Amino acid sequence: MAAPASLRVTNARLHPTPEHGLKTYDLLVEGDRITSLAEAGSRPARIPADVREIDAQGRFLSPPLVDPHVHLDIALTVGQPRHNATGTLIEAIQIWSELKPSLTVDEVKARALEVIRWEVAQGTGFIRSHVDVCDPNLTAVRALSELRREVKEDGVLSFPQGKELMREAMRLGCEVVGGIPHYEWTREDGIEEVRFIFDLAQELGAPVDLHCDETDDEQSRFLEHVAAHTMRRGMQGRVVAGHTTAMASYNDNYAFKLIQILRRAGVTIVANPLDNIVLQGRFDTYPKRRGVTRVKELDAAGINVACGHDSVMDPCYPLGRGSMIDALSMLVHVAQMTGRDELFRAYEMVSCNPARGAGRPASIEEGACASFVIFDCDDEVDAIRLRPPALAVVREGRVVARTEPARTRIFRQDREEPVTFTPAHSERPHHQHQGGNPN
Ligand code: FE2
Repeated sequence: MAAPASLRVTNARLHPTPEHGLKTYDLLVEGDRITSLAEAGSRPARIPADVREIDAQGRFLSPPLVDPHVHLDIALTVGQPRHNATGTLIEAIQIWSELKPSLTVDEVKARALEVIRWEVAQGTGFIRSHVDVCDPNLTAVRALSELRREVKEDGVLSFPQGKELMREAMRLGCEVVGGIPHYEWTREDGIEEVRFIFDLAQELGAPVDLHCDETDDEQSRFLEHVAAHTMRRGMQGRVVAGHTTAMASYNDNYAFKLIQILRRAGVTIVANPLDNIVLQGRFDTYPKRRGVTRVKELDAAGINVACGHDSVMDPCYPLGRGSMIDALSMLVHVAQMTGRDELFRAYEMVSCNPARGAGRPASIEEGACASFVIFDCDDEVDAIRLRPPALAVVREGRVVARTEPARTRIFRQDREEPVTFTPAHSERPHHQHQGGNPN
């Protein structure tokens, strides 16, 4: 027997819009699946009695956004026990170590849950969180394990009983093995940490997602070890490396070689531009390095590149609201991906690419899981430009968030005029004012 009809979305522009053009589509969702997808009005509507209708009015329907790299254990701690006066990573780590002993499972869970709410409300359908395991009580691990996810902060070897704490964290419910080799006291310890991470991952059959070379030191080269272990152990497609900012400082000869082996290894690279544009280059005078990994070159080489939010109101980055579109906006600026095609490719870095990196590919097609977002904009480029609200967020057939768009007006010559932030000549499939309200 067919699952009960739950939702019908009409007149939506579909991702990827370069493929679908200005056409709009109607979708029928039954249970947790998309059971019908056809050009708007082209298929006789088979509308079950209990269906809920959303007229997208030509707005952009996207796969769910994915945040592949966030630190939910430290999120929303900005100002506790004090603010970061210098804005540097070194002071941020010191502040976090001062706060850690006072953490409780309940307050970590409450903060993490609040950020999850923010992310979901803005279209994020899947989150992978790192968590600090360098705490003898594993308070944050216990908290997030109840909410769920993965591992990492201090070097594993340089922290007392670091290896044992990693094992315990995995026992407590972490799903992915992490690490941070560039924080070890010596290069040799960092290499040993990478080996340990892969040993543990292999033993447990778990994927790997580690912080790697998050520094401006061009001598920090642990990513090559990550690629080599990935290939030697047959873990292609199951390994993610975050930050990799040292790559921005490598000489081009070495970067070329590294990019070749990363591609062979199928390692996903996650850039975190919100944090790294403010944390890197701190020891530079001028010229000052951007310090974000080689996003454009990695993407052009065929490597799966994604973008993470990383911090939300914590000592590393006091700003942020859990918006993957904000992170994406920063990425296209810092990585200089403002060419027409580059903007569309960049959109994949917060949607399909991180989903693939986490082994959860998503698509909008008949038979696929009914998880998607309707943004109050025309297409991927407008999503980056306008940073629009997510009008409706649908997860497995259920509407889990709605946002009423703001209406902006100006008053001129005794008249009230709407302001849409969209030029009058734009080729919108429906010339609705921004701020219209698809029901
Ligand atoms: Fe991070």
